[in-house]
Amino acid sequence: MDAILVTGGSELNGKIPIAGAKNACLTLMPATLLSEEPLTLTNAPRLSDIKTMTTLLESFGSEVSNMQDGKVLTMSSHNLNNLTAEYDIVRKMRASILVLGPLLAREGRAVVSLPGGCAIGARPVDLHLMAMRALGAEIDLHDGYIHANANKGLKGAIIEFPFVSVGATENALLAASLAKGTTVLKNAAREPEIVDLVRCLIAMGAEIGGEGTSTITIQGVDRLHGATHRVVTDRIELGTYMLAPAFTGGEIECLGGKIELLSSFCEKLDECGIVVEQTENGLKVKRSNSGLKAINVETEPFPGFPTDLQAQMMALLCTATGTSILEEKIFENRFMHAPELGRMGAKIDVNGGVATVKGVDQLKGAPVMATDLRASVSLILAGLAAEGETLINRVYHLDRGYERVEEKLSNCGAKIERVRGQ
Ligand code: EPZ
Repeated sequence: MDAILVTGGSELNGKIPIAGAKNACLTLMPATLLSEEPLTLTNAPRLSDIKTMTTLLESFGSEVSNMQDGKVLTMSSHNLNNLTAEYDIVRKMRASILVLGPLLAREGRAVVSLPGGCAIGARPVDLHLMAMRALGAEIDLHDGYIHANANKGLKGAIIEFPFVSVGATENALLAASLAKGTTVLKNAAREPEIVDLVRCLIAMGAEIGGEGTSTITIQGVDRLHGATHRVVTDRIELGTYMLAPAFTGGEIECLGGKIELLSSFCEKLDECGIVVEQTENGLKVKRSNSGLKAINVETEPFPGFPTDLQAQMMALLCTATGTSILEEKIFENRFMHAPELGRMGAKIDVNGGVATVKGVDQLKGAPVMATDLRASVSLILAGLAAEGETLINRVYHLDRGYERVEEKLSNCGAKIERVRGQ
């Protein structure tokens, strides 16, 4: 079953529980490698990427058990018997590169497959390697693998990133927490997932300050102990479902949602005519009576507009009044949803990193193809608003990052089901 069939036209009303953040969990899980004691994560999302990271950690000798239907993960990395992250696993999920820092910090060596690119871009890891070298590791690249050695242990350093990288910031944080001496990360990423990782490392005994700002300081410690940490709410899933009622009419309450996770996104929602109200249980969202207005969007590192919500916003703007301009400044090829939306009648002109969207009255359902995780869900949202049926093929992308999407949307009145693909 690798397709989803959506029949447009139903208003959405109800509550949607927002899961723990995929992009936090994927950097929290490798932290188990830093300690011989168990690390427990609660509020973990049930996603295929989490299963892939579990397989990778188990390949090193970590024991991973999950309870409460996968929402609680307990990982124990008492004895590691393998330090190679195989291509066959890494190619399935690029976040596997995040085991590099912790393996080097714990064992002084690691062999990690280069992740390779993906649909949205080349996705190099040069900043990850720069950070590891700065901490004293020797890095050789051959046979498609990163061969890293730090047999004298890692040493604290000042690491200045030429541009913001979430993953490189995370790898450096994981490695520096056990390095000898002080590490300062300059031009560090400020995403909530970074703050969440730091909170978990501090619970394990790390000494870190400045998280959430561009300068993070880590005082290396000799060892880290076990901890229990609750995964932060997924701001990208939150933003995705906040947009849903703007496509269909009605009102949705996103349980667990907080405005501070998405402040610049919420400013853009207000600008285009979407009303957001913070309740004690989450965020209540509905379309204003004046309808949707065209807006301009530029994706930026946090606290700017998230690149992971660009596709979803583009889908919404296809039926806004006026012409919108979206500039994708993080990834070089993240407009693959545009031609698929075009099949549904959208008027989108792409020129390099800039997409111009001329609003049309109504999208029409059509068979379309998902190309990456966030494009998949933008096509589902477009299908909710379109006239007739939309069949979204290759939705295995979707299952990597959205937990039970049909269930969450059909519980609010959407006509959506999983079917065999074309
Ligand atoms: C993380 O990817 C997220 N993934 C991405 O989410 C997200 O889009 C991205 O951050 C930006 O917010 C996870 O957290 C698992 P970057 P990451 O390093 O760390 C270039 C999703 O849909 N770069 O901040 O890989 C890179 O190519 C995914 O959930 C280098 O050139 O992103 C990109 O153009 C997609 N060299 C830019 O920097 C490097 O060494 C930002 O990438 C590293 C990155």
